[in-house]
Amino acid sequence: MSPSKRVAVIGAGAAGLATTRQLKRAGLSPVVFEAEETLGGTWVYSDATESDPMSMDPRRRRVHTSMYRNLRTNLPRDLMAFREYPFDVRGGADTSWPRFPAHEEVLTYLRRYAEHFELQRHIRFRTTVEAVVPLDPDGGRWTDPSDVGTWLIRSSRADAASEEEQFEAIAVCNGHFSVPNVPDLPGAAAFGGVRMHSHNYRRPEDFAGKRVVLLGGRASGIDIAIEIAEFASRTLLSVRDARAGRSLPGCEDILVCAAIERFDGNDLVLADGDRIEAVDVVLYCTGYRYAVPFLNEPAIVRVDDGWIHPLYLDLFSAVAPSLGFIGLGNMIIPFPQYELQAAAFAAVTTGATSLPDRTERERFARSRELALRRAGTSERSFLTQGDRQFAYNALLAERFDLAPITPAFENLHHAVENARATDAKRYRSHPLPWLDDDYERAAGTQ
Ligand SMILES: Cc1cc2nc3c(=O)[nH]c(=O)nc-3n(C[C@H](O)[C@H](O)[C@H](O)COP(=O)(O)OP(=O)(O)OC[C@H]3O[C@@H](n4cnc5c(N)ncnc54)[C@H](O)[C@@H]3O)c2cc1C
Ligand SMILES: NC(=O)c1ccc[n+]([C@@H]2O[C@H](COP(=O)([O-])OP(=O)(O)OC[C@H]3O[C@@H](n4cnc5c(N)ncnc54)[C@H](OP(=O)(O)O)[C@@H]3O)[C@@H](O)[C@H]2O)c1
Repeated sequence: MSPSKRVAVIGAGAAGLATTRQLKRAGLSPVVFEAEETLGGTWVYSDATESDPMSMDPRRRRVHTSMYRNLRTNLPRDLMAFREYPFDVRGGADTSWPRFPAHEEVLTYLRRYAEHFELQRHIRFRTTVEAVVPLDPDGGRWTDPSDVGTWLIRSSRADAASEEEQFEAIAVCNGHFSVPNVPDLPGAAAFGGVRMHSHNYRRPEDFAGKRVVLLGGRASGIDIAIEIAEFASRTLLSVRDARAGRSLPGCEDILVCAAIERFDGNDLVLADGDRIEAVDVVLYCTGYRYAVPFLNEPAIVRVDDGWIHPLYLDLFSAVAPSLGFIGLGNMIIPFPQYELQAAAFAAVTTGATSLPDRTERERFARSRELALRRAGTSERSFLTQGDRQFAYNALLAERFDLAPITPAFENLHHAVENARATDAKRYRSHPLPWLDDDYERAAGTQ
């Protein structure tokens, strides 16, 4: 691919910014479409919430961010940082910031990153991508099995007519923490209290004196339970794993109970037969769904609630690899992984690195899917990495000749996880090792 190739990036959150930076670094000049009026994606906090607190009404007023007012990161900033741009005074942070910063500090870091690498001028704000359509090499509508030649993007702005443009490669970076996953629980519709999803949670004071049950025991459930417990008259965390029956470690005021089986009036009946009476609020912290509403090409890629497929290396469409998805992983250290994925996408887009042919890419995607199914993994967890992220990052680094992430990174991650598991309330002030000072090294060799 020549440097004059037209490349589009959809979204100017952390993933879109990393992708824009890596494309620029590779000599390209991407066009970035961003629906909001500012960059930063989910880190742009807003008091506004969706008009339906469960986010189920298709006509609801939508809000992109899932941040809440008091949120602090659950990763130390030395781990969170793009490796090219330190999250400290040498890069995008102030000396006074805590090691686990607040959401507004992360947003400032992202703004400084964009400024430092001059990304702003590539971004078209308030411009929403409405459709992405593959075209064949002759410019006609794509039909399998020909190669995709270019991609047509239809975009809209509030103050202008919709526009159509063609691009040779597209990076989808639209985020996947904005469309709530809401389990269908029997009796829920007749519940007389408040039901809401964590996407629409903002402040704990709103729960003063209430009996609150939070459903879902990962980051949102735990972190929000801790702040609500300061105000609520009773706080229970309902999980579908073995933690039930005890209080949350380090949080005597939060009882962990079994998963909700059904609502019974204003009571909840749990999977172990227990009953919680007279509940005021059920706060669903049940995670999010993948949604790419502008892409409706199942012969190229299918977007299901829990995963997107078939993908080569969880990154490229296996059928048409000029379509990339940066930032799909769950339970990862996001920014450094986005940076690696973005550098890989840029290398393929410029032609510096080539991928195997379509048959091989599809075989790769199929065998990965089969292995996950055989291991009993649910589709919702196919893109969940956890400890697998380190092998995945290493594979990307090796395959695309990028600087590998150092072992110190993994060690610090485990130290943070252990601290969080034993002391969910205070882990942010535990003494933890600092990362090796490897920013410049990574930047110099990528
Ligand atoms: C509550 C919460 C807490 C988190 N805490 C941490 C943490 O402590 N540490 C950490 O590292 N990560 C954390 N994360 C993960 C966080 O999501 C990632 O760090 C990262 O910000 C995701 O970036 P993204 O670019 O993939 O998505 P987003 O930040 O969601 O950005 C996507 C962008 O795409 C734009 N967009 C979407 N559709 C279109 C369209 N059709 N046209 C044009 N633009 C579009 C959106 O407006 C948005 O700006 C947290 C996530 C949540 C929800
Ligand atoms: N900085 C912070 O402190 C902070 C705070 C909040 C969120 N975050 C980030 O935000 C992202 C999203 O986190 P999240 O916690 O909202 O989503 P998540 O990680 O997807 O967790 C959702 C949880 O809901 C559970 N669940 C789903 N359906 C359920 C049901 N019917 N009954 C019981 N449990 C059910 C899931 O259980 P299974 O595991 O069994 O599927 C899972 O544990 C993550 O990246 C996270 O790190 C960070």
